[in-house]
Amino acid sequence: MDDLSTIKSAALDAVIAATDLGALEAVRVAVLGKKGSVTGLMKTLGAMAPEQRREFGAKVNELKGEVEAALEARKGTLSTSALATRLASEKVDISLPIRPEGQGVERGSLHPIGQVMDEVGAIFGEMGFTWADGPDIEDDWHNFTALNIPPNHPARQMQDTFYLPPRADGTPMVLRTHTSPVQARTMLSKDVQMRLADGGSLRIIVPGRTYRIDSDATHAPMFHQVEGLVIDRTTHMGHLKGCLVDFCRAFFEIDDLPLRFRPSYFPFTEPSAEVDIGCSWKDGELKIGAGDSWLEILGSGMVHPNVIRNCGLDPAIYQGFAFGMGIDRIAMLKYGIPDLRSFFDSDLRWLRHYGFSALESPSLTGGLGR
Ligand code: PHE
Repeated sequence: MDDLSTIKSAALDAVIAATDLGALEAVRVAVLGKKGSVTGLMKTLGAMAPEQRREFGAKVNELKGEVEAALEARKGTLSTSALATRLASEKVDISLPIRPEGQGVERGSLHPIGQVMDEVGAIFGEMGFTWADGPDIEDDWHNFTALNIPPNHPARQMQDTFYLPPRADGTPMVLRTHTSPVQARTMLSKDVQMRLADGGSLRIIVPGRTYRIDSDATHAPMFHQVEGLVIDRTTHMGHLKGCLVDFCRAFFEIDDLPLRFRPSYFPFTEPSAEVDIGCSWKDGELKIGAGDSWLEILGSGMVHPNVIRNCGLDPAIYQGFAFGMGIDRIAMLKYGIPDLRSFFDSDLRWLRHYGFSALESPSLTGGLGR
């Protein structure tokens, strides 16, 4: 009996005395381990008479339970305080001022193309468009055929295409020549088809990279476009016009920016229009806004019924508009960047001059959002 209470108080004292999880584990081993004090008591049971064994055994079991409970409780306390210690030691003081620039610390900046994509996204986002994307390496069907440009159609020569080796199944592959294949990919998606069938609408913009064999001061073999697509049962040419007028005025931050919708041709839209913005040239310098010149910035039109049909929708029910705009071009115009190639030179002096602060959010001060 004495043995029992001595072992018990020694064990419980040791549990309390343990100040970290390692020490506590050592206590557990010393009491409940193979050679532990309580385990030792268990071993004496074998030599006892049945009556005595039952009585003593019950007491040893009770003791074991108490020690286990004490160990568990202490473990909880120690883990909580271990966590608190760790949190305190790993604390980051977010109120510390950043180190001054220059002393080995350089502040990065956003590339004007990324900035312009964000601006375009913010303006169209305000109009209810969501952001969609598709692959740069595209199959011939999505890039051309779905868009009403069948094989051998002369319109294939409108775009100087980078052809890639065909896929294993023989599918001809290209680097996408425009972001328009994402129109087809989106209309074909089950989600979109279900949403449209439920009476909903589709409004997306697709900013991304595009590729054509072309290279001079205003053309690069890789460039950026943003596609827009609206499909529902009622959208008409008036909506196209209103949407693009609002966008251009917001983007260039000129409330009365003149726009000209010029009849044009694209195989995937009918009717089609190219859009010019007003500008003037003074002493060789370009100024966007009212003036006597025009600059073309985008192509647009009502989605051709064949495209709608190729994408699994009934053109007797669904209609809408699409547009495609050169991001690099509108970035050059807005921020006065004379040579397109400088976008891709990675010249640090240029990037520091034309880059944007990461903290500067796109402005909506033009026509929308006020
Ligand atoms: N994909 C056309 C181009 O790259 C632009 C466009 C898009 C025209 C959508 C009309 C509709 O030139």
